Amino acid sequence: MLKKYLNRIITGDCLSLLQKIPNDSIDVTFADPPFNLKKKYNGYQDNLEFKDYLDWCDKWIGEMIRITKPSGSILVHNIPKWLSFYTRFLNEYADFKHWIAWHAPTSPMGKSLQPGHYGILFYVKDLQQAKINEIRMPHERERKSDYLRKDYGGKKAGLHPFGPLTSDVWTDIHRIKHNKYRDEHPCQLPVALLERLVLMTTDEGDVVLDPFVGTGTTAVAAKKLGRNYIGFDLDGDYKEISENNLKKVKADSHIGKTWVSFHLGEVRTLRDKDWLNLSSHFEIPTNIKDIDFVKIKLEAKKTPLTLPFSRHRARPKSISIEKPGPN
Ligand SMILES: C[S@@+](CC[C@H](N)C(=O)[O-])C[C@H]1O[C@@H](n2cnc3c(N)ncnc32)[C@H](O)[C@@H]1O
Repeated sequence: MLKKYLNRIITGDCLSLLQKIPNDSIDVTFADPPFNLKKKYNGYQDNLEFKDYLDWCDKWIGEMIRITKPSGSILVHNIPKWLSFYTRFLNEYADFKHWIAWHAPTSPMGKSLQPGHYGILFYVKDLQQAKINEIRMPHERERKSDYLRKDYGGKKAGLHPFGPLTSDVWTDIHRIKHNKYRDEHPCQLPVALLERLVLMTTDEGDVVLDPFVGTGTTAVAAKKLGRNYIGFDLDGDYKEISENNLKKVKADSHIGKTWVSFHLGEVRTLRDKDWLNLSSHFEIPTNIKDIDFVKIKLEAKKTPLTLPFSRHRARPKSISIEKPGPN
């Protein structure tokens, strides 16, 4: 039943399409709906009345909960105002895990606090059965010197060689600002953001469904990481953009057999449980107090693997690392 939807982008209204998906069949549902901010989409008027918008949201959120497996996760991206309403509905039928604050500065607006983040609600369908992976991100470093930005109160020796467990505030993945990196769509998300969410909530071969797939970002992330995807969008032009983006990528975002998210040629997110496999590919400094200037840099193939000696870089063993697709 699900098979005919797998790894396809389908044009149509997400409510009627979601109704065709069986109960408890999808590992992760992710939604990035229109924000009702009068954005200029091709075929969609982004300006419903307040109550109509929220009633509509309850319908597709209800469908997302229904089709997600008991071990699965439900993720919803929006501005904080709408998320504050979503939580009421979601709390009744699913278990809250996190409100992820994705740092995204905006130009000055209004007369109160300056909006500085989008939220991603992270719910699981059933806390007892939920599949969640702890994830790590690289240590924050000074751009030129590679020195750690934080001083860690003299506890550097105990630090993880790659980087800390990721918190619920994400400042290291940025909105796509330059037109040359974006498609003809008003609100395209960066692939690295979706890759982090996918690594956090799925295993290889799992299915990720996005009812508002737009330019296909969720599907691209899933494909690159060896997961299956299903994407819906009202607009046929966006389906074409998604399919073009999908054609440009392969399931190649891995080092050896371990799936990781690359961004700008470096590993941006990895699963904690995969670190042991990955670390065998690299010379980890034994003198861990050198972590300040020894960067565990899991590089893309295009950069030379046998680097000239630099005190800033860990030296990888001579292994072949698959080249990540464009991000
Ligand atoms: C915020 S955008 C999603 C962008 C996407 N995350 C990306 O990175 O490209 C919302 C999308 O929802 C689509 N949409 C609006 N109403 C819809 C509906 N009823 N069913 C399916 N798609 C819809 C719009 O065409 C738009 O592409």
